[in-house]
Amino acid sequence: MAEEEFQYLSGFGNEFASEDPRCPGCLPKTQNNPQKCPYGLYAEQLSGTAFTAPRVTNKRSWLYRIRPSALHTPFKPIDMGNMRDDWNSWYPDPNQLRWHPFTIPDAAKGAVDFAEGLNTLCGAGDPKTRNGLSIHIYACNSSMLHKCMYSSDGDFLIVPQKGTLRILTEFGKMTIKPNEICVIQQGMRFSVQVSEPSRGYILETYNKHFTLPDLGPIGANGLANPRDFLTPVAWFEDKEIQCTIINKFQGKMFEAQQGHSPFDVVGWHGNYTPYKYDLDKFMVINAVAFDHADPSIFTVLTCQSETAGVAIADFVIFPPRWSVQEHTFRPPYYHRNCMSEFMGLIKGKYEAKEEGFRSGGGTLHSMMTPHGPDSECFEKASNANLKAERIADGTMAFMFESSFSLALTEWGNKTCLRVDEEYYKCWQGLKSHFNPNDRLKLSETGGESVSKVKKFSF
Ligand code: FE2
Repeated sequence: MAEEEFQYLSGFGNEFASEDPRCPGCLPKTQNNPQKCPYGLYAEQLSGTAFTAPRVTNKRSWLYRIRPSALHTPFKPIDMGNMRDDWNSWYPDPNQLRWHPFTIPDAAKGAVDFAEGLNTLCGAGDPKTRNGLSIHIYACNSSMLHKCMYSSDGDFLIVPQKGTLRILTEFGKMTIKPNEICVIQQGMRFSVQVSEPSRGYILETYNKHFTLPDLGPIGANGLANPRDFLTPVAWFEDKEIQCTIINKFQGKMFEAQQGHSPFDVVGWHGNYTPYKYDLDKFMVINAVAFDHADPSIFTVLTCQSETAGVAIADFVIFPPRWSVQEHTFRPPYYHRNCMSEFMGLIKGKYEAKEEGFRSGGGTLHSMMTPHGPDSECFEKASNANLKAERIADGTMAFMFESSFSLALTEWGNKTCLRVDEEYYKCWQGLKSHFNPNDRLKLSETGGESVSKVKKFSF
């Protein structure tokens, strides 16, 4: 099937039903697990939440497949190179960190597929207790052949930066271009095909599934709209081939073999599915008079902790938009945050640092690590003649923001060889503009000083 013929179901977290058109009526009509399924299929449930989770959060799908997924040889540990949760074995680093674009392996030196090209950059927590997250970088030059993978630990939110991903899943096929994202949830088997050297970012969350953020006073519409999330339609192949199944389990990698394609689901129904989203569909909301909305106004998806309003991780984007605030320093404000902020750049130039932060690279500003615009950006923006203007056209930066204190792996710290040792220098040119005589000027012009106002405050 050509990519343009791929079909999708629209909606976020909907209860869908999908049959491969080659087998109409493959879904049982009146029950989930009949004594005999249509077409001689096996019924298999994939549970994404505890059986007893509240109805509003309960996630499960029923898969009708040629063989049950239990049919494979025992899993054995494998060395997947840089896909490892060794962040506790390195001394913490509170500095502002920046990485040059991560290296894509040279195809002339050997084929590296998506699974082999996974590298864990940083993380926190523990999949054994289902609490925490990890951030991975993928960099590959070839397709996964007769191979699929899944994570027992959490959900993969995949952000391609270079190269279109053609992803086969048990639920159907998806194409994900840069500026689109997809979420492959815990346990779902998938295989990635690429047609060029490819690179991107993955946020893996262990606790819960991603949801859309509440909109509060924004109202019923805005940010990412549910109908723009797309789930693939059922598609299967009936192939007897030797196939490798890779499993990420408790932070370690394993593999098993089976003699048939894992993509043998003829039909499925349920609300636990993979999905994709085009970032250009995001309905941007922002300040239209003065000052800033916090960057949370750009949240696409959130994985919430048990504490109200506190995210295990948010996926936030900085899309093209109008900037119109009056008498305001418009770039992101200087700040220190009780959250960890990992940023990546899909394309273009990020407004707060036009040089140095490059597409395919990243930054990590850890808890309470100060950051903000570089000195050049400050001088430019604080002296600019403000008018309504477009910003970030041709650019898409994003942030994984977490309430966990993220720690680097050996790969992120050392092996990737992409740490930018010069990053701190971008703030070294920040000058003092303090002028105590400004107060005199204020009184001369009839303005009220803060000290005068204080006399009347309580
Ligand atoms: Fe920040």
